[in-house]
Amino acid sequence: MILNIAMDGPVGAGKSSIARAVADRLGILHLDTGAMYRAVGLSAIRAGVDLQDEAAVTAHTRAIDVAVAHSENGQRTIVNGEDLTDYIRTPEVSMAASTVGRYQGVRREMVAIQQRLAATTPMLVDGRDICVRVLPNAPVKLFLTASAEERARRRWLEMCQKGDTTPYEEVLKDLRARDEQDMNRAVDPLRPTEDAVIVDSTEMNFDQVVEYILGIVKEKTNE
Ligand code: DC
Repeated sequence: MILNIAMDGPVGAGKSSIARAVADRLGILHLDTGAMYRAVGLSAIRAGVDLQDEAAVTAHTRAIDVAVAHSENGQRTIVNGEDLTDYIRTPEVSMAASTVGRYQGVRREMVAIQQRLAATTPMLVDGRDICVRVLPNAPVKLFLTASAEERARRRWLEMCQKGDTTPYEEVLKDLRARDEQDMNRAVDPLRPTEDAVIVDSTEMNFDQVVEYILGIVKEKTNE
């Protein structure tokens, strides 16, 4: 059987780095689905598509080819053959990803690609709708979260290290806006499924979260 692990969670819960560390320890791939929505958002911006225009964004998404490749340095996210990985982490693209993620047609396209990949390859898939939509039958389902203040604090520290001087209050405000949009959209809003294990990392450090999740995986897959 192919080992698939589903992991959801809000902005800044550390999903990507935790998911990557857990996947590495298990010797499986990590699929970052947020990067795919980001790549769609950036591609739409570059094409001059109005992000509030659902029909136009959906048509654009259907017309492009979104692919991922796994390298030594993690996932590369590619649109029409162009590697967009280095351009998708800006605040503008973050919000664009959240906006295009509201649209049913966009989600359908992304979910189909993600399901195709996970069907043939053992992987840990992280995102917002993985437990409910992408991998509803995954043997391990996780919801990784932390308080909004703690998530904003971690994001802010990360930005400070990169020389970004955005004030903490602004980071917290952006994070709450994206939470609001991701949790209240009509299609597959972010929320924990009943069968997901909730991992609240507010009081845990990185290594503790990784070990805790590895313990859950072991327990669930030995059943
Ligand atoms: O995980 P992330 O911050 O890179 O995701 C960026 C945005 O993409 C997020 O705010 C909502 C959207 N997204 C989504 O709708 N569904 C997913 N499975 C992953 C991300």
